[in-house]
Amino acid sequence: MVEIIPSILAADFTRLGEEIARVEQGGATALHLDVMDGHFVPNLTIGPPVVESIRKITRMTLDVHLMITDPDKYAPVFIQAGADRVLVHQETCPNLDNTLRTIQQEGALAGVVLNPATPVSLLEEVLDLADYVLIMSVNPGFGGQQFLPRSLDKVRRLDQMRRELRLALPIEIDGGVTKENLADVVRAGCDWIVTGSSVFHTPDPAAAVTEMRQIASEAEAVRV
Ligand code: DX5
Ligand code: ZN
Repeated sequence: MVEIIPSILAADFTRLGEEIARVEQGGATALHLDVMDGHFVPNLTIGPPVVESIRKITRMTLDVHLMITDPDKYAPVFIQAGADRVLVHQETCPNLDNTLRTIQQEGALAGVVLNPATPVSLLEEVLDLADYVLIMSVNPGFGGQQFLPRSLDKVRRLDQMRRELRLALPIEIDGGVTKENLADVVRAGCDWIVTGSSVFHTPDPAAAVTEMRQIASEAEAVRV
């Protein structure tokens, strides 16, 4: 089933607990947490203490997106803090197979992320090792950017690859997803849809999640 996964990057951090409760009321079952180090991306966000605090107030699945230059060093720390799933960028992992195995051995699901300029063909040797793949539909670093339409072709190519290899591998997408492009994103083959501004920069984040879940499930119903 297609899932809408709110990214707290767009939330009001002074009221984070309430913001999380709202999206949970709207039907979200997972939360996306963006970790940035100011090196791999030109921005800084949260670290393990924030993940640990969030872990204490929700049972939602925590999907931790590591936009950092040293994911091998920090992935275990974030799993210890409560991450259920950890995403590492292909661009930061010279021994990606080892990185994925380490994350899995530490008890989390392991996902690989591709930046817009990184081709899906670079995943050929690891696709059967990853638990899921995230296609960036903006260059990482900031919320509220414009969706890059070419990412839909990448999703379609990845969808083709997983069919050929008979892999039940969820495809996640992150960046610039709105109510307007959501149906196209689902029809291209995405299963897990990260969305920040379209949920938290609205007067009613619970209603925004419910509405996006509805749009996604209608688009999924007509997907072949
Ligand atoms: C961007 C982050 C995204 C971001 C998405 O680098 O990885 O998760 O929060 O936010 P929107 O939906 O506003 O593009
Ligand atoms: Zn993200």
